Amino acid sequence: MTQRSSPAIELVEHDGEVTLSIDGEQAMQAWERDLMWASADMLCEYGHDFYEVGLGLGLSALRIAGNPATRGHTVLELFDEVEDLFRARHPELPENLTIERGDFFHRVFELPSESVDGMFFDPALDMEVWTDKELWAATMPQVVRVLRPGGVFIPFFSTKPELRWQYTPHFRRIRVERHPYTAYDTTTYTYGTSGDAYIQCFVKD
Ligand SMILES: C[S@@+](CC[C@H](N)C(=O)[O-])C[C@H]1O[C@@H](n2cnc3c(N)ncnc32)[C@H](O)[C@@H]1O
Repeated sequence: MTQRSSPAIELVEHDGEVTLSIDGEQAMQAWERDLMWASADMLCEYGHDFYEVGLGLGLSALRIAGNPATRGHTVLELFDEVEDLFRARHPELPENLTIERGDFFHRVFELPSESVDGMFFDPALDMEVWTDKELWAATMPQVVRVLRPGGVFIPFFSTKPELRWQYTPHFRRIRVERHPYTAYDTTTYTYGTSGDAYIQCFVKD
């Protein structure tokens, strides 16, 4: 496992702010909606069949499934509680949306080759996972294998104008879009609570 097995998961709604909290950490907040939508719209420019890692509040999942170009969209989520919270808020889901349970770092080895046109990658990971060089060296070739030629890998936005070392060696073409953002005053996971976010889109040749 790349994550703790049974963390405390709750949806915190306070002063107009919506936070998905996992083990006391801000795993996702609703102010990200416009960035999630921009990432989702970019993904959908590249085809019809999509895969996503991390359900969270389901903002990107619903946007991808709702795009007229989308034939099928599968979202992988690690925790039952996250899906339960999402389904309680969205009892009727689009027919082209499938939610699966699993840990991406295991599941990616099982996904069929050249099976998707785009993958949106937005798991909330511990720092020891982000810094595990061997894990990324093993994982990213699998991501490339799963993408169709011309397909894309879009990780969640960065609030620093830097390409992420985990992904860059595995792609030759990278598209970056800058989007201004304003987080909540209470947000702790961005570099500052406003500024520019960079959506990075890695294209498989
Ligand atoms: C930042 S949220 C996703 C937000 C989502 N894009 C949205 O629009 O609401 C991250 C999610 O990834 C899930 N997650 C974390 N590690 C994972 C893993 N290894 N495999 C699959 N899902 C994972 C978390 O449980 C959480 O629901």
